[in-house]
Amino acid sequence: MTLNCVKINNLKCLLLCLFTTFFVLVGCAPGQLGLNNSGQYRNGMVVCAYPDAAQVGLDILKKGGNAVDAAVAVQFALTVTLPEAGNVGGGGFMVYRAGDGKTSTLDFREKGPAAANVNMYLDSAGNVIPDMSLYTHKASGVPGSVDGMFEAHRKYGKLKWADLVEPAIKLARNGFKITKHLANDLNRTAEQFKKLNPGSNYLVKDGEWKEGDLLVQEDLAKTFEQIRDKGRDGFYDGPVADLIVDEMKQGNGLITKADLKNYHAVWRDALIGNYKDYKVITMPPPSSGGIALLQLLKSVEPYPIKRWGYNQDSTIRLIVEAERRVYADRSKYLGDPDFYKVPVDSLLKPAYITSRMKTFSWDAATPSTSIQPGTFVGHESDQTTHYSIVDRFGNAVSITTTLNDSFGSRIFVSGAGFLLNNEMDDFSSKPGVPNMYGLIGGKANSIQPGKRMLSSMTPTIVEKDGKLFMIVGTPGGSTIITSVFQTILNVIEFNQGMQQAVASKRFHSQWLPDEVTIEKDGVDSVTVNKLQSRGYKVVSRESIGRVDAILKTQWGYYEGGADPRGDDTKLGW
Ligand code: DON
Repeated sequence: MTLNCVKINNLKCLLLCLFTTFFVLVGCAPGQLGLNNSGQYRNGMVVCAYPDAAQVGLDILKKGGNAVDAAVAVQFALTVTLPEAGNVGGGGFMVYRAGDGKTSTLDFREKGPAAANVNMYLDSAGNVIPDMSLYTHKASGVPGSVDGMFEAHRKYGKLKWADLVEPAIKLARNGFKITKHLANDLNRTAEQFKKLNPGSNYLVKDGEWKEGDLLVQEDLAKTFEQIRDKGRDGFYDGPVADLIVDEMKQGNGLITKADLKNYHAVWRDALIGNYKDYKVITMPPPSSGGIALLQLLKSVEPYPIKRWGYNQDSTIRLIVEAERRVYADRSKYLGDPDFYKVPVDSLLKPAYITSRMKTFSWDAATPSTSIQPGTFVGHESDQTTHYSIVDRFGNAVSITTTLNDSFGSRIFVSGAGFLLNNEMDDFSSKPGVPNMYGLIGGKANSIQPGKRMLSSMTPTIVEKDGKLFMIVGTPGGSTIITSVFQTILNVIEFNQGMQQAVASKRFHSQWLPDEVTIEKDGVDSVTVNKLQSRGYKVVSRESIGRVDAILKTQWGYYEGGADPRGDDTKLGW
């Protein structure tokens, strides 16, 4: 009797154990099918740089929209809530991977206006005129974001266009409560807004902005109504286009009605490479990001960085030496492929990448002056923003979009309520003269009418075993490439979860200037001393990048990484 009872109790216990183990292993508590107990989601996720915009994206997913629908709604919501970078007056790139594994990319990068020319930022002595490519009406390329969203929706969208624009209209008209970050950014830029937009009080108020203040943008709401009702023509034609051209005329800018009408986003084949067992799907030129990311991954692949560890001396030295060589190549060979033959295959040939790393020595840093862009044997053939979205069908969207600098040129279109980009600074104004990110360039990235300026934006999707693995990207100018690179390594090599991989301290190097920038407290002093003793010049920076990413766990759940450096938010269901 006693024996039998023990047996029955053991059986109960065994069943209970099996039951519990099952739910622990699948990471799911009974009754919570969408969300598991580690904050991971089954049906989809949005990670972006502002809470209200993330909510807009999640609402669209829950209404049955797909990842592209949610992306359109997030892009427009960010224009309202993140005026530093969210935009209709700028451009960007989308990398897309459908649930069935098909990939594509959309290039909605701005273009040089027809009246742009190679010497437009030089004075009569041939010197670059300070700030002309940054804070004047001539700093703006022809915006691409509205056409990009319209085109993405035309090809992949499921819900009605108007329903995706509506949330931005509501946010702009009813206002939203600003965060501390946004209040600080607005206060910091107030004087420049007033100077560049005389007589206007757009984005400025009497006294200082405070966290929790309501920001209402009625002119922007009207612009979005045009976009809602007329699609791309609501921006590139009609009253909004008239306001853009009036703004240009009044400030000696270059963008004309014809420039706007002629703007079209371009579908390009994704750039695809491998790192160990992973397939990396990323952005081709006119972004330099994809090529540089694949070069960096291949440069470090043969080395045991997993054993060396995260942010350890050897890991940092190897990565810095790879970055030095890759950014040197970027300066010479990368530009708009519609205007310049970018030697993509040569730059990505494994033998070429191995040969570049041969000059790296463990004894001392290679001075950047001794590194030049490579030669091939025979030619071939603080603001941007990133959001990562996945839907219940497994469709994944990785979009990085920008006005270039924080609040772009700081010039807004009077009466239309949106800021213009200063993306023209991403062109090389003069060979060898650095742009605002210290990047230099030459012929490949010289200014031409209708040409797209080179970018570092690196929206990326990673696959493992033929399945979605990670969606990742970030703002940060020239540091974008290295932040995406390190985030991928943090997960694959250093076994960090998505949130940790995004939050981990980063470092950056870009050939010129010849230095290693490390986030404050990112590397311990012993390691810094070791780097310095080998000839590395180490500088410190408060923060690098704002990565927003999503990881698909082996149990099929989505785990978000929202960068704690900003107001970045992850929401799922
Ligand atoms: O396209 C580019 O590479 C730059 N315009 C991106 C600017 C940027 O990321 C600024 N963000 N902090």
